[in-house]
Parts: sequence; C-alpha cells; structure tokens
Amino acid sequence: MRVLVTGGAGYIGAHVTRALHGDGHDVGVIDDFSTGERGRLVPDTPVYEGSVLDTAFVETSLRHFAADAVVHIAAKKAVDESVANPLFYYKENVTGVQSVLEAMVGAETRRILFSSSAAVYGEQAASPVTEVTPTVPSSPYGWTKLMGEQIISDVAEAHGLSWAALRYFNVAGAAAPELADRGENNLIPKVFRAVSSGVHPKVFGDDYPTPDGSCIRDYIHVDDVADAHATVLNKMATSKLAVIYNIGTGRGTSVLEIMAAVRQVTGVDFEYDIIGRRPGDPADVVADPVKIRLEIGWESRHNLTDTVDSAWQAWTAATSST
Ligand code: UD1
Repeated sequence: MRVLVTGGAGYIGAHVTRALHGDGHDVGVIDDFSTGERGRLVPDTPVYEGSVLDTAFVETSLRHFAADAVVHIAAKKAVDESVANPLFYYKENVTGVQSVLEAMVGAETRRILFSSSAAVYGEQAASPVTEVTPTVPSSPYGWTKLMGEQIISDVAEAHGLSWAALRYFNVAGAAAPELADRGENNLIPKVFRAVSSGVHPKVFGDDYPTPDGSCIRDYIHVDDVADAHATVLNKMATSKLAVIYNIGTGRGTSVLEIMAAVRQVTGVDFEYDIIGRRPGDPADVVADPVKIRLEIGWESRHNLTDTVDSAWQAWTAATSST
C-alpha cells in the first residue's frame, strides 16, 4: 500500500517508517520537524513538511502521494507538560486527529492506524490490563488519546473508514544510533543521562505495593512496536478493521529491575537515589497483549536486556557523535 506516516521523522515514527519499507509498502512522511529529525528518514522518502493542524496541507499531501492509508503518530507526549498546558495538548492531539480525518475524508483515504497509549487506562487499572479495562485517564495527555480514539471511531463509522488504535505501553530501545530516543522524559534515557554525567538516577518511590516497592511497567522494544504497525497495516490491506489493541510484552519490570538491567548492560556500577513518589504514577501497568496475538498473530520478540542494550548502543553512539 501507499502509506503516509504523520510524525514519521520522530523516534517511534522513524522506526515505523522503516518497518513499513521493510514490508514493501511505499512510505511517505508528514512532519513539522518540531521534534522530528531528517537524519532519521530512510533516504529518498517523500517528505511533506508542515503541521497536521493544517487540514488543507494534509489533504493536498494525501492526494499528491495517492495514499491508501495514514499512520497518525504526530502528537505531543509529555504527561507533565499536558498537565501544565492542557490547551496545547488538546489542540495538537485532538484537533490534530480531527484535522487528519477531515483531510482523509476530503482525499478519500480510507484507512487509519492511530498511535494511542496505555495512558488511557489511568491510575486505577489492575494489571494486566485488557482492551476492555475501564478507561479513566489521569492526565490531559491520556484524555487526548482516548478522545482521539473516540473521534476516529465515530468518523470511521459515518464515512466507512477502516481503523485501528494501538495503545503503546512503555516504548524503549532503538534499531540504530540515528533513531535513538532523545526525549528527556522517560525512565531509560533519564538513567543513561544520569549515569553518563556521573550523577545518581532517581527512583520515584519504593513504597508501592509491588514485590520490591518500586513501580512496575511493561517496557516494549520500539522495533516490536514498529512491527505491530506493519502487521496491522498488512491486515488492513485486505480487511476492514474497527479495533483497539494493546501493544505490550505482557511482562512487568520494576524501576529497580531497570536499574539492574542498566548496570548489567553498561557495566557501570552506579548508585541511585530513592526519592518520593511522583504524583499520579500508578503502581503497576502491564499489558495483556493476547487480543492482537489471537486476532492477527503479532507478539513482541525482544526481551528486556535486548531493549535496554539497544537503547544504550544508540545512546552512546549518538552522544559520542555530538
Ligand atoms: C507515562 C505514560 C505513557 C507515556 C509516558 C511518556 C501512563 C500510564 N503512561 O509513562 O503513556 O508515553 O508517560 O512520558 O500514564 N521513574 C523513576 N525515575 C525517573 C523517571 C521515571 O523512577 O527519573 C519511574 C516512574 O515512576 C515510572 C517508571 O519509571 O514508574 C516509568 O516512567 P516514565 O518513563 O516516565 O513512563 P510512565 O510514567 O510509565
């Protein structure tokens, strides 16, 4: 298929773009390069530079590329920032979805794959969470993703579109140095940054009701996430979908286990500081990934050591070249 990926020059988008190329799709990218980087793109990828909020631009891009499908990844994703500046998040993430859908209806593009998040489940969910676990987001970011799913579902119903929303758990790792996660928000890059600069990483709380007292998450290799997109799109080529899938490993890892994995992978015997809980952090969020395996045969392949090791290789290569 001819697939236009919004946010295709971002950390996750660039991995998705590569996976789709690998599966033989013709891939184009829409990106405003606010956080995207041209160096992440596969050479000769058609690029449409602009904002997804500009509906006319998106529609023109879809028509020019003759897209059969859109993978809508372009969005803001920092939970704290969404609490401080919700209007910005609702505009970028919710108006962004509306704009892309309006452009798709105008250009008669009939398939959309949407980047959603485990943040839709909020703090109360008991792990493992399935796709029918109640959704009660605990941040504006989580709400923007839930609203995005709802808008897509309604518009798809009215206009006969095929759609899937993928709820990513904690995405980590990298397939190549130029694809490294340069965001400063997530645990693994934060630990690398601390270890590289000789300061102690911080553990947000060791008094949770978990075996070692630190929070448990489901860390999934970004290559597995990219592969999930390719698998769903391949299904969409022949079937009309209206579906939500969790994209996780089904394995929980505590913050202290991440510290141990980083020690093992880096060979640095660093210490860490245990500080108080971060407000709004759920104790335990692990995916039940069975639905997507049973329905379309995707499951994660990488283990935690692979994931942390790939992240470290990319981190060291990227930081030594800057
Ligand atoms: C949250 C969102 C996720 C989003 C991500 C983006 C939920 C359920 N998940 O993930 O959808 O993509 O933010 O930022 O809302 N931690 C430390 N020390 C640190 C940093 C983090 O101990 O310096 C701990 C946190 O308490 C948490 C774990 O590490 O238990 C992972 O944190 P983080 O990488 O920020 O992701 P989440 O908050 O799980």
